[in-house]
Amino acid sequence: MQMKWWKESVVYQIYPRSFFDSNGDGIGDLRGIILKLDYLKELGVNVVWLSPVYKSPNDDNGYDISDYQDIMPEFGTLADWEEMLDGMHRRGIKLVMDLVVNHTSDEHPWFVESRKSRDNPYRDYYIWRPGVDGREPNNWKSHFSGSAWQYDPVTQEYYLHLFSKKQPDLNWENPQVRQEIYSMMHWWLKKGVDGFRMDVINMISKTPGLPNAPRLSDDRYQYGGNYFLNGPRLLEYLNEMKQQVLSQYDILTVGETPGVTPQNAIALTNEQNGALSMVFQFEHMGLDANPNPGSTRDSITTWKLADLKAVMTRWQKDLDGKGWNSNYLTNHDQPRQISRFGHDGRYRVESAKLLGTFLHMLQGTPYIYQGEELGMTNVTFESIDDYRDIETINMYHEQVEEKGRDPRSVMEIIHAKSRDNARTPMQWDDGPQAGFTTGTPWIKVNPNYSEINAAQVLADPNSIFHFYKKLIQLRKTYPFVIYGSYDLILPEHEQIYAFTRIFEDERLLIVLNYSQEYVVLTMPEDLRYTSASLLICNYPVDPAIHIDHFTLQPYEARVYQLVGQGR
Ligand code: NOJ
Repeated sequence: MQMKWWKESVVYQIYPRSFFDSNGDGIGDLRGIILKLDYLKELGVNVVWLSPVYKSPNDDNGYDISDYQDIMPEFGTLADWEEMLDGMHRRGIKLVMDLVVNHTSDEHPWFVESRKSRDNPYRDYYIWRPGVDGREPNNWKSHFSGSAWQYDPVTQEYYLHLFSKKQPDLNWENPQVRQEIYSMMHWWLKKGVDGFRMDVINMISKTPGLPNAPRLSDDRYQYGGNYFLNGPRLLEYLNEMKQQVLSQYDILTVGETPGVTPQNAIALTNEQNGALSMVFQFEHMGLDANPNPGSTRDSITTWKLADLKAVMTRWQKDLDGKGWNSNYLTNHDQPRQISRFGHDGRYRVESAKLLGTFLHMLQGTPYIYQGEELGMTNVTFESIDDYRDIETINMYHEQVEEKGRDPRSVMEIIHAKSRDNARTPMQWDDGPQAGFTTGTPWIKVNPNYSEINAAQVLADPNSIFHFYKKLIQLRKTYPFVIYGSYDLILPEHEQIYAFTRIFEDERLLIVLNYSQEYVVLTMPEDLRYTSASLLICNYPVDPAIHIDHFTLQPYEARVYQLVGQGR
C-alpha cells in the first residue's frame, strides 16, 4: 500500500455560512474563518474542506454557483480568500475546495445564454429536451421534490435539474463544457489549493436516452438513480480530468458518490489507475430509512448495530489495499451524529467520544464536521418557518400539501433528518447567539448553546474537544492506526462493536459499547496476546485490568495496543 499525506490526514469540514460571522450581518464569512484558524490548529486537523464560497444566488446555500472564479460577497472577497489560504498554510493546514460541476446556478452566464434560444452557442452546455405528450421528457424526480425537469417558455423545451430548478445539470457529453471546467480547476490549483471535494461527481454521466425510472410507488415522479448514478462515461470523464488536471498536482480528491458500491469505489480510487484519492459512500447513512432509493430523508426507521457492522466491515475489507475509504458520520447534509448514532441526552459526552473513536480508528481518512468536536446535537424547531434548507421546506410542502400527510409526523422526520440539524450556527460560547454573530443569525441557534459550546470544551480537559485532539495525535504517532487492516471480532454481539487493526507485527483492539447498558464482555479465545496497553478510553480505567473478561460502561470506548502473536 502506498503511503500518502492524504491518508495520514484528518479533515475538518467548514460550512462557512454557519461557522463564524466577523461583521455582524448574521452570516458566517471568510474573515470569520481567519479568526478561528488557531482553534483549528489547536484541534490538530491538517486539512480543511470548505463548502462552497463561490458567487451564488444561494438557492441551495452556495451549491448553486453563478461564478466559479469569484467569491460570494456575503462571505468576502478574493483577497480575503487569499489571506485565509495563506493563514492555513502558515499553520500547516491544507485547503480542499468544494467543486460543484454536476450543475451550475441558473444565473450562471452559461445558462443565461443557454436558455435564450435553441441555437445559442451555449445551448448544449445543459441538458434540454422537448416535452413528451405535453409532459416532462421522463418521470425522474428531483432530489428536492417534484419533477427533475423544468419547462422554459422562451424556447418551449425542458431542462434537467437533478436538484433545484435553479441548479440546471451541465451536459458533460459536450467536450467544451469539460474543457471549461478543467481550466477553472487549474486556476484554483495554481492559486495553491490542495484538493477538491467533488459534489455528486458520480451523477455527471447520464444513460443515453434518459430512460424512465422504474415505478416503485404511486408517485408521479420516481428516483432515476439507475440512469444517472455511476453512468456509462463516468470513468472516462474522470480519467480525462485526471490526465488533464489532477495528475499535475499533489492533491487530495474526494468524490461525493451516492449509491456507490465498493466495486465502483475501487474503480474510482485504486492506486494504479483510479482518478480520485477517495470517495464518500452513503450506505451507513441509509440505515435508518426506508430502503427504497432516494428515501433517506423522507422516512425514518431505527438503525441496527448489526447493519452498521455489516456495512462498515464490507467497506473496510473490500477496499483494503485496493482503494481508500473516507470515513464520516455526519456532514452538512446529515443530522448530527450523536443524535443519530449515539445518545444526545445523559450519555452525550460519552457517546460523542465513542463515535469519535470509531471514526478515527477505522482504516481511511477521517472527516470531522464543524461542531462535532463540541458534541453539537440536532435541533427541534417547532415551526417549518424556522427551517432554511430548500430540501426540507420542499419535502414538507410536498408531503403535507400534496400527499396529505399529518404535519406532525412530517415534522418528526424533519427533527430527525433535516439538513438544518447540521447547519445551525457553530456554538462558540454561552453569550448571545452562541457567540456566532453580533447580529441576527440567518438560521436560529440551537438553544442548548449555553451548555454546549467551544469555550466550555476548551476549558475542560475531559471534554470531547480534548478527546478528539488525542485521537488525532494517536493517528500522528502510530502509523498502524492509518495503514492497519481491519478485522471484525464478536460479529454477533448486539451491543458491542469490536474490531482489530493489524499492520506488520503491530495490533490494535478497539472495543465500543454502542448501548446505554453495562455489558460484560469475554474476548474471543483466538485473540491471543501477551500484553495489552491502553491507548485511549472515555471512562477512567485501571490500566492493569485484564481484558479477557471485563465490563464496559454505557457508551464506553477503549483502544488497546496488543503485544504478542495473535490474529
Ligand atoms: C450535495 C451537497 O452536499 C448538497 O448540500 C447539495 O444540496 C447537493 N449536492 C447539490 O449540489
